[in-house]
Parts: sequence; structure tokens; C-alpha cells
Amino acid sequence: MTLPATSRFQLTSDLGICRILNGMWQVSGGQGRIDPARAVEEMFTYHDAGFTTWDLADHYGPAEDFISAFRRGFAARNGTARLSEIQALTKWVPYPGRMIRRLVEEAVGTSLRRMGVDCLDLLQFHWWDYADNSYLDALRHLADLQAEGKIRYLALTNFDTEHLQIISEHDFRIVSNQVQYSLVDRRPESRMAEFCRGHAIGLLTYGTLLGGLLSEKYLGRPEPSRAELDTASLRKYKNMIDAWGGWALFQELLAALKRAADRHDVSIPNVGVRYILDRPAVAGVIIGARLGIAQHIADNSRVLGVVLDGDDVAFIDAVLRKSRDLMRLIGDCGDEYR
Ligand SMILES: NC(=O)c1ccc[n+]([C@@H]2O[C@H](COP(=O)([O-])OP(=O)(O)OC[C@H]3O[C@@H](n4cnc5c(N)ncnc54)[C@H](OP(=O)(O)O)[C@@H]3O)[C@@H](O)[C@H]2O)c1
Repeated sequence: MTLPATSRFQLTSDLGICRILNGMWQVSGGQGRIDPARAVEEMFTYHDAGFTTWDLADHYGPAEDFISAFRRGFAARNGTARLSEIQALTKWVPYPGRMIRRLVEEAVGTSLRRMGVDCLDLLQFHWWDYADNSYLDALRHLADLQAEGKIRYLALTNFDTEHLQIISEHDFRIVSNQVQYSLVDRRPESRMAEFCRGHAIGLLTYGTLLGGLLSEKYLGRPEPSRAELDTASLRKYKNMIDAWGGWALFQELLAALKRAADRHDVSIPNVGVRYILDRPAVAGVIIGARLGIAQHIADNSRVLGVVLDGDDVAFIDAVLRKSRDLMRLIGDCGDEYR
């Protein structure tokens, strides 16, 4: 392990994760051509550098299969005893409809088979339609499967505070909620973070680097056209910047981040990730990895050593105060999907 001990976070007493997680949406298509063999080989580089935690989903193309291939290779090189060093956090994103036991069991069975594991470390559940409260049936079946040893811990993704509260009141033990959270999208600060803090629920954040827009590459650059944004991720977060305050204000933000980055001899992404890691209830930040195409392991390792001071934060916050309120514009976490 090359990362410091502060890189680790106990999501539960027996599930420790790296606070910077490797995001696998980037292997699902629309983000550059992924070569499976190269991608799996690169997973060793991440792991060996200390980035041992993977965020994936049933619908992220070959991501679950990559976990299986990586685990097989890892066991061959290092022995099966060391497989416990890997954390693979998947998601289940079902089509809306009735949630009967057989359907839930089949979905979990498919992930177990594809990932080549007997038990899922963490299953993050997504639900599209709050008007249909079958999500509570789904969670009941998931809790049963957990009791049967097929899932270690239950988690959610893109649930808003209101429904997270309903779920907590039904006595489901949820360990994390995965939400969009960045310097541009700070909706989790309105209600979500406080609720999570009070209920020992960790936030796993995505979009923190805005698909790569939050970096030196875009500092001082004219506004990119849709055609220039060549990944689904860049396009997704450019929309968020437009809603938040637009490209000119985003340039002010990048300049403030650059100032902080220069003061600490680090990069703009380092400052952007550190700021979010330091927020209440945040357990970890997921950074998308285009495996075999581009990697930023050395740079992202430096996040752990960054300590932002009051001057950095005040300078950044002065820009953020000029932005629109996305909570008012879009709604709580995940509302953009509904
Ligand atoms: N639950 C959900 O609904 C949901 C939604 C979206 C994402 N996610 C999760 O979150 C993960 C993160 O994905 P995201 O789309 O939000 O992207 P992101 O993490 O905001 O951006 C990832 C991109 O940032 C760039 N980058 C990373 N480190 C960098 C550094 N140090 N310097 C410069 N550039 C750097 C890379 O671009 P290049 O590759 O071009 O170098 C990388 O592809 C996904 O893989 C997925 O696991 C979940």
C-alpha cells in the first residue's frame, strides 16, 4: 500500500474502503473504446497504488465481469487469502414494477455470478419512481438475501432525503447513499448530509470532478461545444454547470481552485476532491476511471496529503455564493433522474 492510513474509511466495523473510489461507469460505453484485457490489467495498477475500492453497477456494461476477471487474476498472483483486500460495490437499478422475491433474487444472483463472488460487499439500490412504493418490497427482499449471506451491506443511490428517511423509519439498515456532490452541485448540503450524519449513513459522491471539467485542462479555455465534449460524463456535467451559473462563473471557480492548488503545490482536481472529502457525512469520493485509456493515479494520490485552510475555502466560497441554487432549480439529490 502506498496511500497513507487516512485514505481508509470504515463504512462499517468490518467494511473498510478507500476514500477515493474507482468509478467504473467509464467502461460502459460512450466514454472511449475500452480494451477488456488492458482494462483488467490496469485494475492491478490502481489496487497496487492503494485504490482498492471499485464502484460499479449491473448496467455498467462489462464492469461486473471485469471484477470477476480481476479477482481471478489477483488470486492467481497473490493467493486467494488476499482477495479480501478488494472491495467491489455494485448497484441494482431495476426497471419499475412489482418487486417479488424471485425477481430480486435473480438480480442479486446475476451480480454474484458475474462478479465471481459468494457475497456482494455492498449493494446500492436505485429506484426510479417514488409514486410506486414497491421500493420497500424490494428492500425487504434484499434484507432477506442479506440475512441469507448473499449481501454484506445494503446501500442506496440517488435517493432523496425524504425517502431515505422513510426507509430508515422502516428499520432498514442502510450504510451509504451515492449522490452527485461537487463544488458545482452542493445539493447534499441542504438536507441530505445532516440526515446522513444523524443516522450513520455515509455519502459516496460522484460527479465531483465534473467528468474532468474541474481540471487545469479547462482553465482559461473558451466554452466547449457539445461536439468537443467527447464523453457522456463531460456532457452530463456541462449541463450541470450551465444550470449552476454558466461557463464564465465556472472559469472564476477554476481560477479560485488554481490559486489554492498553487498554494499547496497540488492540482485543481486535488483541491476539488479534498473540499468534498472534508464535508460532513462524506465517506468517499468516486473518481471515474477510463481503464486502459487515461489514468491519474499519481495525481489523485496527492489528495490525501492536501489540507485546505480557511483562506482557500473563503476564496472558493466567495465564487460559489454567486451561483444559482440547484436545490431550488432541480430538487433534492437524485431528482434529476425522476
Ligand atoms: N449513481 C449514479 O447515478 C452515478 C452517476 C454517475 C457516476 N457514478 C459513479 O461515479 C463515477 C465517477 O464518474 P463521473 O462521471 O462522475 O466522472 P468524474 O469522476 O467526475 O470524472 C472522471 C474523469 O475526470 C478526469 N480525471 C480524473 N482524475 C483527474 C485528475 N487528477 N486530473 C485531471 N483529470 C482527472 C478523467 O478524465 P480523462 O479520462 O479524460 O482523463 C476521468 O475520466 C462513475 O464511474 C460511477 O462509478 C454514479
